[in-house]
Amino acid sequence: MKKILITGGTALEGEVAISGAKNAVLPILCAALLADGPVEIANVPNLQDVLTTARLLRELGAEVEHDTVASRFLINPCPASGHVAPYELVRTMRASVLVLGPLLARHGAAEVSLPGGCAIGSRPVDLHIHAMQALGAQVEVEHGFIRARVDRLRGGRIEFPTVSVGATENALMAASLAAGTTVIDNAAREPEIVDLADCLVALGADIEGAGSGRIVVRGVERLAGGTHAVLPDRIEAGTFLVAAAMTGGRVTATGTRADTMVTTLEKLSEAGAEAEVDGDRITVDMRGRRPRAVDIVTAPHPGFPTDMQAQFMAMNCIAEGVGTIDERIFENRFMHVNELMRLGACIDIEGNRATVTGVEALTGAPVMATDLRASASLILAGLVAEGETLVDRVYHLDRGYENIEAKLSGLGAQIARV
Ligand code: UD1
Repeated sequence: MKKILITGGTALEGEVAISGAKNAVLPILCAALLADGPVEIANVPNLQDVLTTARLLRELGAEVEHDTVASRFLINPCPASGHVAPYELVRTMRASVLVLGPLLARHGAAEVSLPGGCAIGSRPVDLHIHAMQALGAQVEVEHGFIRARVDRLRGGRIEFPTVSVGATENALMAASLAAGTTVIDNAAREPEIVDLADCLVALGADIEGAGSGRIVVRGVERLAGGTHAVLPDRIEAGTFLVAAAMTGGRVTATGTRADTMVTTLEKLSEAGAEAEVDGDRITVDMRGRRPRAVDIVTAPHPGFPTDMQAQFMAMNCIAEGVGTIDERIFENRFMHVNELMRLGACIDIEGNRATVTGVEALTGAPVMATDLRASASLILAGLVAEGETLVDRVYHLDRGYENIEAKLSGLGAQIARV
């Protein structure tokens, strides 16, 4: 199995091009199932999760062409008549549950394997089911599958008791083809929700309020083919900017959307970095300085993203002072802590709070990636650790970062896949 070997100690310098957002492209590819003509998606990152989604769409009968050079997908959903998302695919990628809404809306039936638990917590799907029931579907959970049926979905009121990105996305997609108007309350407000809504509108949907806590969807009879370009990945961009700050370097991330990264940039400034935005370019400069520890509390957007928590924890490990990290979204998202401690970090955990006391230096060691963003934090720690750090189980990383070692090498890092 491939591993990533990093020799720490180089300050990163230069420019890095940011790819399309993983968390936007996955629902958008699923949304193509709602259309009755070809859908072209641009700025698609070349990631393992994207390939898994393409496999799932093919499994359902859609024709999928993937142009990796142009980062483009062409999907013809017309031949898609299947309605079963099998365990083998859902197991490897929880986001497969995002076909539930589109399949129900388009074919009146969906059988989607339960995703099961994963490293960062139990991650149930009750809110997805609640949304489909509110639109008139009969839903049963049996033999490890969510089985849902309906003649035609009808608009209704969906009020989420807690904010869920995925459940909001399923609700949006299903409601787009329902008869009548749907009001979604306590909707997730993430930029990826807005991007999905923009894509649906480009296909002919009637949606208002995406990005706010209340979304109104007036169902339409059909969605046509169309084109959409995926939003830049705010988490990938944030990861490279934290890498710049940690290594005492200067990095410009290009092709970004700073308006989607407000809390990340605020925390970088608080850590002492100079952060400058110029159109779609964000530069972070930390040359000649050591970061100051920051306190983080994760929350649904516009709060601080849980997907950036592990990276900031890595930065706190070598920062000046003591920083606390409160994880409020997922119950078990501190899997990286033990691995960071193997590199010499000083971290105490109490419940969902980690207290990190910065040390002068980390020292390289073999470590094991446990989930996607945890892997990123280990790579970041490896970039500043003295000597060699060998990160095992990097397949987690390939689910969400396109060419991370090539991009980091381009900034001067000593990193290779071995
Ligand atoms: C999405 C992102 C993920 C990010 C997360 C939170 C994608 C593909 N993934 O995941 O990277 O970390 O948002 O920003 O976009 N919950 C329930 N019942 C449900 C659904 C969720 O209790 O039916 C809980 C979860 O266990 C969690 C919280 O709600 O505690 C938020 O999860 P959710 O927003 O749904 O995350 P995902 O959509 O799975």
